[in-house]
Amino acid sequence: MSSHFAIAIDGPAASGKSTLAKELAKRLGLVMVNSGAMYRAVTWKLLEDGVDPEDESAVVEALQGMKISCGVEGLVSTVSIDGFDPGEQLRGEEINGKVSGVSAIPAVRDRLVGLQREYLERFDLVMEGRDIGTVVFPDTPYKIYVDADESVRAQRRVAIGEVDSVSDRDRTDSERITAPLKVAEGAVVLDTSTHTIESGVRAAIDILRSQGLEIRETQ
Ligand code: DC
Repeated sequence: MSSHFAIAIDGPAASGKSTLAKELAKRLGLVMVNSGAMYRAVTWKLLEDGVDPEDESAVVEALQGMKISCGVEGLVSTVSIDGFDPGEQLRGEEINGKVSGVSAIPAVRDRLVGLQREYLERFDLVMEGRDIGTVVFPDTPYKIYVDADESVRAQRRVAIGEVDSVSDRDRTDSERITAPLKVAEGAVVLDTSTHTIESGVRAAIDILRSQGLEIRETQ
């Protein structure tokens, strides 16, 4: 058993998960793992290599040949495939449109969940995604499900200049058979629609304290 602990943050697209996870990592001195970036990186590689992301057997075959390396830089997770880190390319429109389909494929999930769990062998973590509290770390007592009104979420994407149909992605992510997005057992729901970053972080810290986490803020 690991001596490290994980805070699981799940929720739909643009709910504020990443912002919250980053702030918690900074203030509590944890490593922040963006699990969505891993699904995006696999999708990026498939598109890069001309593999049809909707052809499950082609995806599974391509996945077997991918060397996926996950690391940490400045307390934030990194991912590279076959030695290349796609960086900002992961936020492109084509990837936004295809990533939910790719992440519904069980073989993709198996491989990435294994890599996600490896982080806990080395670090205390805050990990954000869709199935962190349900599948990746179901035994952690520290779970928050972050939500926000759909119009607020769509607006957040527009505000950063991203083309992303959050409602389509949410539908696929919630309706898939393997590890669908849902509120994990024991998770507390935090609606960020009317929160500022600061008030959202304070609310999250209160939730984590109520779940038994001893918190000494480092900044
Ligand atoms: O967090 P994000 O929007 O960058 O995630 C991109 C996609 O990856 C999301 O639409 C579904 C998938 N994903 C997943 O299936 N499981 C996770 N733990 C994280 C992301």
